[in-house]
Amino acid sequence: MPLAVADAADFQRASAWVASLSPAVTTVAQVRTQREAMKSAPATVSPWLCVGIGQRLLSKTQSDVLIRDEAFNGGMVKRAPSVLGDKSDPAGWRVGGTGAPVDVLLIVASNDEGATASRAQELVTSAVAAGLSAGHRDTLRRLDDREHFGFRDGISQPQVAGFDDVGELQPGNFVFGYPKVAGSEPFWPVVDPRGLTDNGSLLVFRRLAQEVGAFRAFCASEAMRLAAQWPGLTAEHLGALIVGRWPSGTPVAAGQTSDPGQFPPGNDFDFKNDSNGASCPLGAHIRKINPRNGPKDVLEVPRMLRRGVPFGPLYDAAPEADRGLAFLAFQSSVKSQFEFLTQHWMNSDLNPGRGNDLLVGRSDGAARTMKIQGPAGPIQISAPLADWIKPTGGAYLFAPSKSGLTKFATPPAAFGLWKAQQLWAITLDSVKQSLFDR
Ligand code: HEM
Repeated sequence: MPLAVADAADFQRASAWVASLSPAVTTVAQVRTQREAMKSAPATVSPWLCVGIGQRLLSKTQSDVLIRDEAFNGGMVKRAPSVLGDKSDPAGWRVGGTGAPVDVLLIVASNDEGATASRAQELVTSAVAAGLSAGHRDTLRRLDDREHFGFRDGISQPQVAGFDDVGELQPGNFVFGYPKVAGSEPFWPVVDPRGLTDNGSLLVFRRLAQEVGAFRAFCASEAMRLAAQWPGLTAEHLGALIVGRWPSGTPVAAGQTSDPGQFPPGNDFDFKNDSNGASCPLGAHIRKINPRNGPKDVLEVPRMLRRGVPFGPLYDAAPEADRGLAFLAFQSSVKSQFEFLTQHWMNSDLNPGRGNDLLVGRSDGAARTMKIQGPAGPIQISAPLADWIKPTGGAYLFAPSKSGLTKFATPPAAFGLWKAQQLWAITLDSVKQSLFDR
């Protein structure tokens, strides 16, 4: 639910209002406890709340705080056509487009649609009373954990040290104030004299509309075109090769011709012994975005905590409706995690392995192509210039911790109290930003 400050005089009031939400914000621990409890005794969960703050509201009201992330400060609208490779004009976005910044993003969730909708309405009413205006609100639904093309999603998630049983990654990759690598200094890319960003995170929201009919038609016609080179190749199999997993979530492997339907889907695999893409094409979505010890020496794979949920009805119920994925991901650096993965891997036909990500990736002009390994050798498949995924909104946001959020109620102390070093950092970042913006 996007909210924006309608009148410039209302920024401080809006900031005090978001601070008042702090007691209602749900922590990771609360979510986990409730999920665990529901396994033995299913119950209705009273709605969870997550709050994201836009760069404009942060800078207008907390002028002593700077999050040193070029992407967050530049904003998604500006960076979409360049860094993210978007072809559509953000002026037409439904959320957060040109001239329509998102100052606050509220995510309300529960397992009861009615309770979620009335909690959302309650929050909008109180936001409006505090001088905010509400933008386009999407209703998100889990759809049996599948995205609209029919593939199980949200399977592969980084395991975080101190949170998960087997913590492979340090919390500093997702939350400010912790090391990114065990034993190193905490990652704290902020100028923040009041601890407002402690335990905070950066949230990427991208509203991606999905043209299910176009994707299905492509898989069907391409499978038919390849009948001579790969007799018996089905549209479902081709789709699985494009994603890197079957609709059930089972990773693709050489020789399978239908969905093995393994549950829970396996995630303990890598591409070490598959350098030419015989099992999983180098251009498959999951391989472009996480090469798992694939052919190139990728030392560090940037990871994100993905929390995306689909919006809109199922295709077969209403083919013409607006549908897609509300992509949501938490990280400690938008520039070196979400943007790096998008720009340098997902949209690249060279890195980390050859071939375009035909599911989500873009190309810079030429048609997108990827290689699949057929029974008689490699086959090139090529997608038309039109994409089946169209960005229709989004924003880069700061998700404060509960205690950080309360500090939004207090305006910063006088300018004279700042340290020269903090002022220098802000000036330097602003100069860098204005150079980028030219
Ligand atoms: C509508 C657009 C998208 C669709 C339909 C989609 C679909 C999927 C599916 C089906 C999976 C496999 C399930 C899993 O491994 O969890 C997946 C994995 C993944 N996707 Fe996407 N995705 C979309 C957009 C994006 C975007 C924009 C990004 C980020 C730049 C992204 C990053 C990832 C990552 C990191 C994984 C996990 C790969 C792994 O660790 O194996 N996806 N996606």
